[in-house]
Amino acid sequence: MCGIVGSVGETKLRDYLLHGLKSLEYRGYDSAGTAFLTKEKLEVFRLPGRIDDLNQLVPAKMHGAAGIGHTRWATHGEPNFVNSHPHCSQQGYFTIVHNGVIDNFRSLKKKLQNQGCKFQSETDTEVIANLMEMHYLKAATKNPLDAIKKTLEDLEGSYALAILFKKDDTKVYFAKLHSPLVIGKGKNTNYLASDYVPMLDYATSYYIIDDYQYGYISQKEVVVKHLDPNEEKPLVFHQTDLKVIDIGLNGYPHYMLKEIEESPEVIKRLMDNYVDGNQFVFDDVLIQKFQEADQIIFLACGTSYHAALVGRRYFESIGKTSRVYIASEFAYYPEVKGKHPLFIFISQSGETADLIRCVKIIQQQGSPILTITNTKGSSLDRASDFTLLLYAGMEIAVASTKAYIAQVALLAILRAALIGNTEIITDLIEVEKAMKGLIGAKLEIKAIAEAIAKEPNVFFLGRGLDYDVALEASLKLKEITYIHSEGLPGGELKHGPIALIKKDVPVIAFVSDQITAAAIRSNLQEVLARGAKVYVVSNQALAKEEDDFVTRNTKTYLSPLTKAMVGQYLSYYAALSLGRDIDKPRNLAKSVTVE
Ligand code: M6R
Repeated sequence: MCGIVGSVGETKLRDYLLHGLKSLEYRGYDSAGTAFLTKEKLEVFRLPGRIDDLNQLVPAKMHGAAGIGHTRWATHGEPNFVNSHPHCSQQGYFTIVHNGVIDNFRSLKKKLQNQGCKFQSETDTEVIANLMEMHYLKAATKNPLDAIKKTLEDLEGSYALAILFKKDDTKVYFAKLHSPLVIGKGKNTNYLASDYVPMLDYATSYYIIDDYQYGYISQKEVVVKHLDPNEEKPLVFHQTDLKVIDIGLNGYPHYMLKEIEESPEVIKRLMDNYVDGNQFVFDDVLIQKFQEADQIIFLACGTSYHAALVGRRYFESIGKTSRVYIASEFAYYPEVKGKHPLFIFISQSGETADLIRCVKIIQQQGSPILTITNTKGSSLDRASDFTLLLYAGMEIAVASTKAYIAQVALLAILRAALIGNTEIITDLIEVEKAMKGLIGAKLEIKAIAEAIAKEPNVFFLGRGLDYDVALEASLKLKEITYIHSEGLPGGELKHGPIALIKKDVPVIAFVSDQITAAAIRSNLQEVLARGAKVYVVSNQALAKEEDDFVTRNTKTYLSPLTKAMVGQYLSYYAALSLGRDIDKPRNLAKSVTVE
């Protein structure tokens, strides 16, 4: 979490830093800050608040030769003024912005305090700045890069750092470990940022900084070193085609709504990329790995975990033993039963720290990793043996919508490829049509959403794939409305949760599968008898007259694609009626880059 930027050269620094931070705001939005360095002075602006507030704070004519900026998701210390980045060392030699977490910051802080260092904030970042200063002042060479290197050797944890050194306004220093950082090369200016997007209108080529690399950018130069000098290698800059990706709101009031409604295009794009006529387009070696695997192990978090639950059912249905683990659990309890497991990581961002932690564990045992991600060049993309991209287009709203759709659809296509079932093509065309129908009927969902928004607790029920969707719908609702919600398998109600059912509690049931339709409807009778307000979301084939929303028919195995969209609209409209900050819900961030 947290987004950082830096730049040095001829570009209008204020514009780059503030526009850049705005595009990184999805990474955290508790507080924000910038620092501008010239030969004469260093000026720091920071505040608890959003980038728009920072924009008001930084004078319009503010300029500098070198600068850095930060948008924060608080880890150490509440989001107040003193904890906002940038942080300066005590004597002002180093000013830094940081994305990551320093695990041993307490012991390092103690050491510095024992040497007389006074701290302003509760952050781990201020410790880094002061360590740099200590190493700098101690060394005879008085070389800031050496001080940075020495500091990095002291640090345990994760960091992407952009650093200003007060005596040199021609450079922005940087360092990276387990948190993303990209260098962009432009005309007479070089850039740093947590991802490519801030630099899209500025840089012409990019370099993704590797773990343990550090160095500096200047107007004309990029110097990248490695903490282990034997690992130093020539830098390869590359182009990105991201410019063609649309990141505007295009008239929509919120990114979330725009992204929900991009779902039909996402399906089409996946087919364009993974199906050619009647042929599937997957790497033969990857298909072979699937065939050799005696077990498929999915690792994911949040919404991606819910997509993995669907994936598990897909692969089980074609005879592949499959398990799903929440990555943060697997990281500490890595149970692997089979001899030849194939790991599938699902991650929209490709930067989720809980997954990155698992990579190392799996690499040690030598099993292949396939990452399914929306983010080319992300840490997981680069660390995996195979990557399948989601082609969902950038997802900006914190609540994941179209990425989930892409994850489930891609898993369905992969399953079809493994069994050579080309019917998926017509099946997905049906889904696209059903999605378009759903978009046309969204106001019916809005009416349900407005009714449930008035209640403090909402339950989602389903069985089989509908249960997986119930979990996702429930996560979406709590995330952006702050209404307490649970997703439950219909059959589990009477084993405990039914105690929570009383008059007017909303219970939303998904009914998509002939096999379980009668059973789930009978569960609904049980809650109706206790006064619950029941809403049924079914499909044409299984609909009853009294159902509240009916989707077009699709093949049952693809029903999560349309049912999840209903859940997304429900959350969206409920949040809208409550006046929530839909694209930036409280306490959350888009990429969860801390453990
Ligand atoms: O980028 P990832 O898919 O790895 O992110 C995983 C979760 O953090 C993410 O899905 C989160 O749950 C979303 N906010 C859900 O809408």
